[in-house]
Amino acid sequence: MDSLLIKGSVPLRGEVTISGAKNAVLPIMAATLLTTEPCVIRRVPRLSDVQFMGQILTWLGAQVRSEGDTLRIQARKIQGAGDYDLIRKMRGSICVMGPLLGRLKQASVSLPGGCVIGARPINLHLKGFEALGARVTIEGGYVHARAKRLAGATMFLGGRAGSTVLGTANVMMAAVLAEGVTIIESAACEPEIVDLARFLTAMGAQISGAGSPTLTITGVKQLHGAEHEVIPDRIEAATYAIAAAATHGEVTLRGARAEHLRAVLDKLADAGVGIERRGADLTIRRPGRLKPVDITTLPYAGFPTDVQAQMMALMALTPGISIITERIFESRFMHVSELARLGADIEIEGPSAIVKGGKPLSGAPVMASDLRASAALVIAGLAARGTTQINRIYHLDRGYENIDGKLRQLGARIERIEES
Ligand code: EPZ
Repeated sequence: MDSLLIKGSVPLRGEVTISGAKNAVLPIMAATLLTTEPCVIRRVPRLSDVQFMGQILTWLGAQVRSEGDTLRIQARKIQGAGDYDLIRKMRGSICVMGPLLGRLKQASVSLPGGCVIGARPINLHLKGFEALGARVTIEGGYVHARAKRLAGATMFLGGRAGSTVLGTANVMMAAVLAEGVTIIESAACEPEIVDLARFLTAMGAQISGAGSPTLTITGVKQLHGAEHEVIPDRIEAATYAIAAAATHGEVTLRGARAEHLRAVLDKLADAGVGIERRGADLTIRRPGRLKPVDITTLPYAGFPTDVQAQMMALMALTPGISIITERIFESRFMHVSELARLGADIEIEGPSAIVKGGKPLSGAPVMASDLRASAALVIAGLAARGTTQINRIYHLDRGYENIDGKLRQLGARIERIEES
């Protein structure tokens, strides 16, 4: 397994281009199953999760062709069932269920396992499918949904942690071909849901309220092919912004959408980070000492859970006490013990981490555990004195395109060690 070797204490300087959003492109790829016509998706990030999704669509019978950062997908004839264990490897692929149910009126997928950040249930996805008239059964580790017809319905998709992003995506994709009107209350408002709705609308779907907690979908008979450019990845942009602040650098994020990052930019400004917006570019600089901030993760437009770990790395470097509370997932503090190996002083109290920041970090060998925890370790390693080796970086390659190349471009002393 590959690892990253980082020689820290180098300020990041220069500009980095933000890639297409992983969490938008995965459901958009799944949505191409809803038509027999060709679809073209642009600004597709080169990520292992995207490759996995391509393999799943191919397994289902679609033709998937990748040309640089463009994907051409045509699902002329597809199967709705099948044993594809890839689902277990990548939770995001659960979102093929909605389009399969919408198009074929049946879908069977292996139950997505939990992961290091939590149990990852899909009860809300299934609640939405049943509201549309599907019969859902769970047998032998598979979940099956079947319907004679799908009829529009009004449903509430809020769970114990608020809205569900992929649940909203899945039910929306099943509803676009249902008969009648579907209203999803407590729908997820993330920009990735808005991007998916834009793609579905380009395919001929009738959707209103995307980005608000009430989504209205009027079913149509069929959908046609479409072209779409994926939004930039707000989580990648936040990660580079925090890395710039952590290393006393100055970095311009090319193509970032500040309007998707309001909660993150608000907290960075509170901490004393300099932020300058010029059109679609954002320049992040670290003028001087930072101040500790308290963070609670919430559904969008609140502070994103996918930036919690990265912010904790920054607060570990910031003199004072910061309290970081995780309200979305039940165990998303895997990075705490690894940050401690670099010298961070963090105590977990239930859903909160109390960060006693300001001690200088020193490099050490650490282990990546999940995608965003790994990003936090990269940030800490870039700021630490000495050398940090991060093992199992396949976690990083799931969600960050060419992260070592982009960081080298910003002056970081980082190299990828490929294990034979
Ligand atoms: C999406 O996961 C993202 N993944 C996650 O990003 C992100 O952290 C998450 O949304 C929250 O923003 C993709 O889009 C591929 P949820 P998703 O359903 O949709 C509970 C990353 O690092 N819940 O919004 O699976 C769930 O347990 C990844 O890029 C139910 O209870 O998350 C959690 O506590 C990590 N029942 C909360 O809701 C359900 O049926 C939010 O989960 C579904 C979810």
